[in-house]
Amino acid sequence: MSHADDHEGTRRDFLYFSTAGAGVVTAGAAVWPLVNQMNPSADVQALASIQVDISDVEPGTQITVKWLGKPVFIRRRMQEEIDAARSVDLGDLPDNNDRNANKPGLDGADENRSLDEAGEWLVMMGVCTHLGCVPLGDGAGEFDGWFCPCHGSHYDTSGRIRKGPAPENLPVPVATFVNETTIKLG
Ligand code: FES
Repeated sequence: MSHADDHEGTRRDFLYFSTAGAGVVTAGAAVWPLVNQMNPSADVQALASIQVDISDVEPGTQITVKWLGKPVFIRRRMQEEIDAARSVDLGDLPDNNDRNANKPGLDGADENRSLDEAGEWLVMMGVCTHLGCVPLGDGAGEFDGWFCPCHGSHYDTSGRIRKGPAPENLPVPVATFVNETTIKLG
């Protein structure tokens, strides 16, 4: 995480996680003993997934949760962020691949990256695809999305690399809605 730790934005993201976030994240481990008795193979699944309460995430904000030891950004986008992401010419994308574990192999259109069809929710690993720093969010960088200050990678409002040394879009992990206010990672 190196330089990114020094930035106020990143520190704020992680403070949220370490305080309010403690109540937000429901660890899969909580149900582990029961699952373990019933089905030994399911315990691995339980440990590999978490459920995140998103009921307090306002439009235009994001939370960062830790999953499998890495930060995951969960952003609730404003309509203008969605519009900006969806109006991009795919020919302008350095990486025209959706990098979405839920729909692998599609092009980099924002519609292929957002968790819901309308595009309100964007879930991505918070790890720069260059050398692994944690990018800054909340409209950072030249494309109003995320910015990695380590070597200057700019990501747009869809988390797609637009400028700088990072080779790929921020990856979208396996994620689903459990209900309207809960997202399951893994
Ligand atoms: S690690 Fe992000 S730009 Fe190098």
